[in-house]
Amino acid sequence: MDNVLVTGGAGYIGSHACKALRAAGFNPVTFDSLVTGWEDAVKFGPFERGDLLDRARLDEVFAAYRPVAVMHFAALSQVGESMQIPGKYWLNNAGGSLNLIEAAAAAGCKRFVFSSTCATYGDQDNVVLNEQSAQLPINAYGASKRAIEDMLSDFGASDGIESVIFRYFNVAGADPEGDVGEYHQPETHLIPLILDAIDGKRAALTIFGTDYDTPDGTCIRDYVHVCDLVDAHVLGLKWLAEGKGSRVFNLGTGAGFSVREVMDRAAEVTGKPVPCTEGPRRAGDCTKLVSGSKRAEEELGWRPQRSNLEEMVADAWMWHQSGHYEK
Ligand code: UFG
Repeated sequence: MDNVLVTGGAGYIGSHACKALRAAGFNPVTFDSLVTGWEDAVKFGPFERGDLLDRARLDEVFAAYRPVAVMHFAALSQVGESMQIPGKYWLNNAGGSLNLIEAAAAAGCKRFVFSSTCATYGDQDNVVLNEQSAQLPINAYGASKRAIEDMLSDFGASDGIESVIFRYFNVAGADPEGDVGEYHQPETHLIPLILDAIDGKRAALTIFGTDYDTPDGTCIRDYVHVCDLVDAHVLGLKWLAEGKGSRVFNLGTGAGFSVREVMDRAAEVTGKPVPCTEGPRRAGDCTKLVSGSKRAEEELGWRPQRSNLEEMVADAWMWHQSGHYEK
């Protein structure tokens, strides 16, 4: 069985990717510092604890497993925090990725599937984004991810690294079989926070800004189910194995939902109201981030199966009620 090195495999998206990789016949080797990940979430292959900033540890893991590819999820990902402590994002995301890419190149592992983000596009009001849209990030998180895209491109030219870069829109939901799910500590993402507010784990949801230029004044996002998202990653590996070369794909659904619409849907799915208060805008937030996924559908053959808001909220709710990981 071929090994795939999964950085951030103990995190939300990485753990779902490990499940999908295992189902596709790969051995997912999780490399994770557990700073934000959970060892309980590593269920589908070996676990190697380590930090991307530790080059010697990376070299050791590459030598031990000789992976055919890297799936690179490990990153700090809070937009708000990235505006307050940008250095942390540049060091861990950009610096850590540089170490990883150099270690992979040195080990002769030349295939990368990289987890990038719609936050690299920045605020481009009222356009449906595509892969050619300008990348003008307005927060340090997005800027650090764009820098990693640039690194992959440069190492493509110098070392023959081939990369499939996925720019995710807002990832939501959980494994419907309940093996893994979303659990961040602290939690900053909209859907889990709504569910916390609904069952009283948190006092109320604060809506960050009600004066945006959108129909109901709240920000609009394009939500994609985590299981669909990781399926695209497996297709990305296949793409690279077939020698199709480096390529960027957006992963969204083309449907935008405002914060209030997500709250309404969560109230419907759970049958309970969402306690909420209105607050000021959060620094770094874009008004609207929506994309189609035409290229991924046409070229990769990606077919999202569960990316409708009801199903995403229902799967997240099921996971939410079933407990969480422990350190
Ligand atoms: N929001 C609230 N209240 C909250 C939390 C969020 O109103 O308590 C709003 C935000 O302002 C935003 C929307 O809900 O308008 C979604 O916010 P999230 O924090 O769930 O996600 P982001 O849109 O900030 O997503 C960004 C990037 C993603 C990236 C993610 C990682 O666009 O690519 O951050 O944290 F994966």
